[in-house]
Amino acid sequence: MKGTLYIVGVGPGDPELMTLKAVRILERCGVWLAPAAKKDGESTALGIVEGVVARGDKEIITHHFPMKKVRMGQSPDPEVKEAWDAAAARIVGHLQAGRDVAFPTLGDPAIYSTGFYVCETLFALAPDLPVVIIPGVSAIGASAAAAGQPLCLGDDRLVVIPATFENGRLRETLEQFDSVVLMKVHRVMDRLVPLLTEMNLLDKAVLVERTSQNGQRIRRDLTTALHEQPHYFSTIIVRKT
Ligand SMILES: C[S@@+](CC[C@H](N)C(=O)[O-])C[C@H]1O[C@@H](n2cnc3c(N)ncnc32)[C@H](O)[C@@H]1O
Repeated sequence: MKGTLYIVGVGPGDPELMTLKAVRILERCGVWLAPAAKKDGESTALGIVEGVVARGDKEIITHHFPMKKVRMGQSPDPEVKEAWDAAAARIVGHLQAGRDVAFPTLGDPAIYSTGFYVCETLFALAPDLPVVIIPGVSAIGASAAAAGQPLCLGDDRLVVIPATFENGRLRETLEQFDSVVLMKVHRVMDRLVPLLTEMNLLDKAVLVERTSQNGQRIRRDLTTALHEQPHYFSTIIVRKT
């Protein structure tokens, strides 16, 4: 019998934000393949899991996925593709030997997660292997909760975008929607703050850094981020209404 791959959303940081189902699946799987952003670095997702689930005698693989832009409809950077291929090959080996594998991923797997790229790569190798997705609490909802505000109410239109968009696309999106969630903001504050200022939206924006993690910080004055780059785990919510 073949094993199953579980792509498990583990929430934004606080292990208490993991679902009961995520905990149960992680306890049950004998193999965990956890993503790490840095070569030989630690996996944030694994750190979250270990706040609740003991390693025991599980096989734990930390797999490096380079953090490079992926554009839909375009071929990924060869280094990125290589990482997906290598992860999928490792997983296939375990599944074909009948072992269940858990792939813990930060937040929710459906939102900018490596888990789905690995899943697609896996299907290209072996289309019949069973994959189950376990949803998690996204940094989006968790950031709104930390800031004590809604994302959208009534007939508000909500959109989620990577802040790495060029300014023209960012402006267009900020004009069109009532509530805009900007992810991956940490390296682009020097152009985001002037854009929000120019659009008279600076006082509508909140920057949530490391939500639910040690070091959580809420900044309502985004100009502070011009001389103090926020952490990679930072999300901005711009709610106009
Ligand atoms: C690759 S995306 C992963 C999103 C994740 N799948 C989710 O559902 O939250 C990484 C981005 O998520 C946001 N993020 C992740 N964890 C966060 C946290 N604890 N606090 C604030 N933002 C976070 C940041 O914008 C970061 O650049």
